[in-house]
Amino acid sequence: MVKKSTEQNMDQMNDEQLLALESKYCSWGDTVHYAKQLNIFREAEGIYLYDSQGVEYLDLQMWYSAANFGYKNKRLNDVLKKQIDTLPQLACQYLHEEKIRLAAKISQDIEKKFGVKGRVHFNVGGAQAVEDAIKVVRNFTGKIPVFAFMGGYHGRTLAATAITSSYRYREHYGHFSDRAHFIPYPYRFRCSASHSKDSCCDLSCLKSFQKLFESEYYSVVNPKNKNCEYGAFFVEPVQATGGYIVPPMNYFKELKKTLDKHHVLFVSDEIQMGFYRTGKLWAIEHFDVVPDIIVFGKALTNGLNPISGIWAKEELISPEVFGPGMTHSTFSSNPLGTAAGLAVMNLIEESNFDEEVPKKGAYFLKKLQALQKKYPYIGNVDGLGLALRIEMCQKDSFTPNRELTDKIMNIGLKGDLQAGGKKRGLVLDIGGYYKNVFTLAPSLYITEEEIDLSLMLFEEALQKALAGRS
Ligand SMILES: Cc1ncc(COP(=O)(O)O)c(C=O)c1O
Repeated sequence: MVKKSTEQNMDQMNDEQLLALESKYCSWGDTVHYAKQLNIFREAEGIYLYDSQGVEYLDLQMWYSAANFGYKNKRLNDVLKKQIDTLPQLACQYLHEEKIRLAAKISQDIEKKFGVKGRVHFNVGGAQAVEDAIKVVRNFTGKIPVFAFMGGYHGRTLAATAITSSYRYREHYGHFSDRAHFIPYPYRFRCSASHSKDSCCDLSCLKSFQKLFESEYYSVVNPKNKNCEYGAFFVEPVQATGGYIVPPMNYFKELKKTLDKHHVLFVSDEIQMGFYRTGKLWAIEHFDVVPDIIVFGKALTNGLNPISGIWAKEELISPEVFGPGMTHSTFSSNPLGTAAGLAVMNLIEESNFDEEVPKKGAYFLKKLQALQKKYPYIGNVDGLGLALRIEMCQKDSFTPNRELTDKIMNIGLKGDLQAGGKKRGLVLDIGGYYKNVFTLAPSLYITEEEIDLSLMLFEEALQKALAGRS
């Protein structure tokens, strides 16, 4: 008798059984146990996740913006299935068509938009791509120190952690001699120099940064020869984990002028804001700045494969300066990833996200602004495209309210909201300097009806939290 395979033998376990195993055998070192409410999801489609009872959860975080084009996107999934049946595996030292075409498409698009030639190098996972950007910077400039933003997040490998501002992420891992010099991000709602919550106080944070270059005693530059100790500035054009913070539109242009004067490279980390999250392929396109390096990951494959990558200007990455073997990973340009990435780029080319995303974002933001008027606990709402923020505060509309934020998130995950006429859940992600910001990253295909439903579910969860019901 032929033995059944383990997969055929495996009866589905129920949630209780799985949670018991999880508590014993899964490391708690990831982010699962941030939430009180632990959910096991069984299916995903469009903007929805489904639990074992079939309850539908409207997802407003889409895998932190990795699944921008909707769960189970048929067109993208079909490409992946086809690739599995043709060239599913190939060592990265050999070439395949999808890798070459994907790198060409990204480079040609950047050349068209920014007028600069460059090349793409693939890796796996956002943090590893950030590491490759760090390698390119170090190799080209010969410098190790870099600038990065307070509130910035670039990943959890050691080098990416060194340029991520939270000390909590470094605390247990020894001294980071390559720790970045962290500069305040232009966070208008909490600008320490501003007298108004809603306006930016004349870019005073930028002026403080620029002042560093005036005298050698401010520690970053030799004004005599303009040589700066720092090789690059790692930037998130819209700060992601920091709370979907949209900077003033002229900020990066002014910053870049200072960096250019001192030959400091501008690295745009687009891992979370790339692939039309903000209404453009790259978020930095909004700011009239030409980056030296772009780092991408997440939605490149709609979350179907963890490939990531960097694009760098030719002078930084040409074979003469960045030759064979300068960096490598076994899975870096795996054919399933490149096929999915190419399919995403083709989908983008044939879509109209340039118009649709800003339109949907504006509709969503208008609704959020109306909600903010009703509840003083919402201190700030803002957004660029479909990267939207809701900052939860105390009744004074300013003091951060982490407790209320957590309550709302956990209520959403319980899956017993009633808005829209049936039992539903709401999936929200929390970010922000005080962990009091809902960072909304809905599917780019979200409809106006689904935006309305999102708002109804959010308001119901908010009301329950305020009433002390959970
Ligand atoms: C801006 C940014 N950079 C880097 C990373 C790290 O990417 P990964 O988690 O794939 O390593 C993230 C992840 O959230 C991110 O948002």
